[in-house]
Amino acid sequence: MGILKPITEWATSPWGQKVPIHIAWFLIWVAALAGLLFLIVHAIYIRYFAKAEEFADSVSPTPVVVLPKRIPRHSLAARVFHWIMAASMFTLLFTAFLPKTGLQFDWITYHWIAGSILTLSILFHIIHASFWLDFWAIWPDKADLVDAWKRVRRFMGRPAQPPRRFAKYPLENKLYHGAIIMTGLTAIATGVFMMSRVRTLFFPRNPYLFTDMTWGLLYVLHGLAGVGLIALVMVHIYFAVRPEKLDITKSMIFGSMRREFYLSHYDPQRWPLEIQRPESTRADREA
Ligand code: HEM
Repeated sequence: MGILKPITEWATSPWGQKVPIHIAWFLIWVAALAGLLFLIVHAIYIRYFAKAEEFADSVSPTPVVVLPKRIPRHSLAARVFHWIMAASMFTLLFTAFLPKTGLQFDWITYHWIAGSILTLSILFHIIHASFWLDFWAIWPDKADLVDAWKRVRRFMGRPAQPPRRFAKYPLENKLYHGAIIMTGLTAIATGVFMMSRVRTLFFPRNPYLFTDMTWGLLYVLHGLAGVGLIALVMVHIYFAVRPEKLDITKSMIFGSMRREFYLSHYDPQRWPLEIQRPESTRADREA
């Protein structure tokens, strides 16, 4: 319990036991500042120090002419999921933390409703990604690790070949997705239990499900995942609005990206396309 002391608030239970009740709310500012610091340091690095991107010329011999002008990236179902998840995530963050920073309103109802929508949308996403999407596309593979090592060496000025072009998701995105899985699932798993402390549509209220100590630890875990998500969401939005990433962001709205962007950043062998549509290709060439 020692490490929890400085980052949690404690109370005395009716039985005289000291129990944690939730995280200490100053962690909201710690997370927001950590997110802000990351983006400032990253923006300065990219503006003043980073060298131009360089890739090993491992591009497959796929002739440009067989590719359509717009490369499909996210299906309609994947985009609808993404934006429902984003809306529920924002609602959860604002309803959770605004009251703690002084803006009082009846937040719990909005919060558990948004939490239920997030939970259902994540269930949908897991099933959709397992059976309809390429499940392994978002997990680091051997090529990512080999290339990461080359990139670290080059960053430190040591000799190394340039890395290959990316698969559909670069290693950074895969690691980010992993961090979101851990924080998101923790918030969801604890939040589902916490719903039995408040009146919801789903099950009768039962605050005696766990001991005070277990409830306290659940609240602390929920809060830690929550503040972690403040920093993660800030970083995500920062990358989404960076000029060199706008093609990717737009593809989450419109579903596809420019052929030139695809060819300059991605390796068609690592992100193979399912499109071989001669009619649209001809139309594109004539356009
Ligand atoms: C972005 C994700 C989330 C964040 C940032 C977040 C944050 C928070 C915070 C800070 C609290 C106050 C806890 C306290 O007073 O110690 C809270 C309470 C609560 N959360 Fe979440 N939460 C998230 C996701 C969820 C989800 C997915 C659910 C449901 C499935 C949920 C259900 C609840 C409930 C029912 C409470 C009220 C508990 C009570 O007051 O007794 N939360 N949340």
